[in-house]
Amino acid sequence: MSDRHPYEDRFGVIRGMPGKGRPRDEILAEMKWMGEEEDKVWQTGKCSGTMYCGDMEHYAFLNEAFSNFSHVNVLQRDMCPSASKFESEIIAMTLDMLHADAVGSHHPDSVPCGSVTSGGTDSIVTAMLAYRDWARAEKGITQPNAILPITAHPAFDKGCHLFGIEPIKAPVDPDTTLVDMGFVRDHIDDNTIVLVGSAGNYPYGTIDPIEALSDLALEHDIGLHVDGCLGGFILPWGQELGYDIPIFDFRLPGVTTISADTHKYGYGLKGTSVLSYREHSLRNHQYFTSTDWPGGKYLSPGLAGSRSGGLIAATWASMVSNGREGYLAYAKQIFEASYAMQDAVKSHDELKLMGQPTWCFSFTSEVFDIYHVNDFMKERGWRFNGQQYPNAVHMCVTRPQTQPGVVETFANDLAEAVKYALSPPREQPISGAIYGGVPGGPTPEVGAFIRDVMFGMLDGMQDVPTSPTGS
Ligand SMILES: Cc1ncc(COP(=O)(O)O)c(C=O)c1O
Repeated sequence: MSDRHPYEDRFGVIRGMPGKGRPRDEILAEMKWMGEEEDKVWQTGKCSGTMYCGDMEHYAFLNEAFSNFSHVNVLQRDMCPSASKFESEIIAMTLDMLHADAVGSHHPDSVPCGSVTSGGTDSIVTAMLAYRDWARAEKGITQPNAILPITAHPAFDKGCHLFGIEPIKAPVDPDTTLVDMGFVRDHIDDNTIVLVGSAGNYPYGTIDPIEALSDLALEHDIGLHVDGCLGGFILPWGQELGYDIPIFDFRLPGVTTISADTHKYGYGLKGTSVLSYREHSLRNHQYFTSTDWPGGKYLSPGLAGSRSGGLIAATWASMVSNGREGYLAYAKQIFEASYAMQDAVKSHDELKLMGQPTWCFSFTSEVFDIYHVNDFMKERGWRFNGQQYPNAVHMCVTRPQTQPGVVETFANDLAEAVKYALSPPREQPISGAIYGGVPGGPTPEVGAFIRDVMFGMLDGMQDVPTSPTGS
């Protein structure tokens, strides 16, 4: 039995197609058991990010919405016009939240639009494809590059890797954690197709200077993608609540695309995100058609072929059931919990917040390795996300942390963790080996070793465990 396959002993391993089907109630009981076990991990409120909603009644509602269309493939739109209603309205609601109504004031000929994708990475990768093909068609660029902060999500690297775009990595200011604008300005050249800024970035939750990036994008007639995958569905409400959050959306004239994940703070089921565009002409570059295929005329809006009608329906249901009032109310609780947790961090001289975070915060230490704190907090059931260069841990505050008592428990556990880290029982923290960075950055040899370990982890997720006989 391995960590990745803890059910091996209890439920066995299926190594080939079973000859005879099993009774449904037995299958459902087995799945329910595993689901409930796994839900216990985050229902304590001690888990950073990933479970953005956590309300089991909301999930039950979404599951019901999903079940009406779970069997539908939305590629066949003549059979499911409801999908067009849901999809177009998801996009309209997202554009409204991101102030696309302002586009008319700075780009009167542009009509904002969007696309529902399968998640944040899909939205980002699709945007990269659209920029590449736009730049090729409109400017004849064949050796494109994109300038992105080192804090931008790896999905940008994935997009660059897939579509032959050179990623130019801009450093960030170590104190603010925000992209170095001087670097960005100095590295724009004739092959630059798009600039990237995050609102907020995954490591620290901080928001890049999007207004300054917008000015640069306009000056050079290039794209500006704002990655709001994580923050896109919470920062707008934070602004409305009066928190100090800079404008990052379509009110800025240089912003051409924004990714915002409905499956994060939109509280939808996993598997949807919205890629919003300032104008239709750019979206055309993500479309794919094949007109001479013997199978008929083929068209699909993005990277996926068949897509789930259930997920689009559940996303729509989530958004219309929450509405502005619901989103605002939940955002208020989340921001309040986050600032209270940040106060707990600030109360320790040994700890240091990274930049000026809002709802998602990261902290480090110049006194001890922060992974000692992580080791202690892990024992208490906390699951932070680990950062490197410098070592830090982040807490992306979600609704489970807004349950009564969670913030207080965080403050108490953290105070004990700081004491522990001041005289730890071992020199090297345990969790640092997994999450922490090699000081000064890895050498190529270490990088290759770590990559091999990561490939092994991916294999372990997808391959059945080897049997006792080694088969
Ligand atoms: C800032 C940011 N961008 C992009 C992504 C990628 O989103 P997904 O995991 O849905 O592909 C994430 C995921 O956490 C993120 O935090």
